[in-house]
Amino acid sequence: MKNELTRLLGIEHPVILGGMLQIGGARLAAAVSEAGGLGTLGQRPSLEAWHDEIKKTRSLTDKPFAVNLPMHAAELDKRIEIVIKEGVRIVVTAAGNPKTVMPALHGAGIVVMHVVASVDQARKVEAAGVNVIVAEGGESGGMVARDRVSTLVLVPMVVDAVKVPVVAAGGIADGRGLVAALALGAQGVQLGTRFIATPECEAPDIWKQAIIRARETDTMVVPRGKAQGRVLKEDAAPGQLMAGEIAGMITATEPAAAVIARIMEEVEPAFKKIEEQVRA
Ligand SMILES: Cc1cc2nc3c(=O)[nH]c(=O)nc-3n(C[C@H](O)[C@H](O)[C@H](O)COP(=O)(O)O)c2cc1C
Repeated sequence: MKNELTRLLGIEHPVILGGMLQIGGARLAAAVSEAGGLGTLGQRPSLEAWHDEIKKTRSLTDKPFAVNLPMHAAELDKRIEIVIKEGVRIVVTAAGNPKTVMPALHGAGIVVMHVVASVDQARKVEAAGVNVIVAEGGESGGMVARDRVSTLVLVPMVVDAVKVPVVAAGGIADGRGLVAALALGAQGVQLGTRFIATPECEAPDIWKQAIIRARETDTMVVPRGKAQGRVLKEDAAPGQLMAGEIAGMITATEPAAAVIARIMEEVEPAFKKIEEQVRA
C-alpha cells in the first residue's frame, strides 16, 4: 500500500507498533520494521538501557524505526541528544505538547509523530509543527485520556481538523480494523495490545496468556499515578497488566511478521465485501 504516510515514513505497510514502556524493546521493534511496518521502540526509565535498545534495534534492522519520547520522560534533553546522535529518523512524542522539542528534532531532519486523544490536542500539536498525528481512542491499552473518546468518533474528527496525515490507534488488531481506519480518513494504524501477544515482545508469558484469555469486556480503567490506564481485570493480577479492549479478539500468540502479513492479506477481501455492497 502506498500513501502520504508510507512515503513519509519510508515503510511498505501502514501498520505501526505503538511505543510500549519497558515491554516494546529492540527485538519487537526490529521485527515489525523488518516485516515492512514501523516498529517504535518503547521508553525505558534508565537512559543507558534506552540508549542500548536504540543501538540494538539499529543492529537488527536497516529499515526505518521510530523511538517513543513521552514529554515527561526523565532527562528529556539527553534523550533528544541521543536520538540525534544515533541518527534516528522518526520520533513519536506523547503526553504533553512537543512544541519545545520541535526545533531540535526538525533541525536534525527527524519526522515527528504525536499521539493525541482529542481534536483540541490535534490542532495544538499540528500548530507546533508535528508531521503526523496519531489519534488514539479510549479503548486502547496503556494510559488513557480522562474523557476516553472512542476511536470511531475521534479519528474522522481529527482528520477533518488537521492537514497532516492521521494514524488511527486503539482497538485495532486485524485487516478489517485497517480498512475501517482508512474509511475514517486515517492513512494507517497503530497497534499496541496485538503486539504484546507475540514471541518478540518482552512481556512475561502470564501477560500474553491473560490477553489471549480475555474477552472484550475484561478490561477496566484504573488510576495510574496522576493519570489512568486500561488494564486487564484478570483474577491473578487484577489491575496490573495493561491491555486494550481488543484483547478480546486476540486468541493466540503470533510472530510480529505474521500479524502484519495477516492484516495486509485481510485488507483486500474486507475492501471487496464493502465494494460489493456499495455497488449492489
Ligand atoms: C502495555 C502498554 C504500554 C504502553 N505504553 C505506551 C508508552 O509508553 N507511550 C505511548 O505513547 N503509548 C503507550 N501505549 C499505547 C500504544 O503505543 C498504542 O497506541 C495503543 O496500545 C494502541 O491501542 P491498542 O492497545 O488497542 O492496540 C502503551 C500501550 C500498552 C498496551
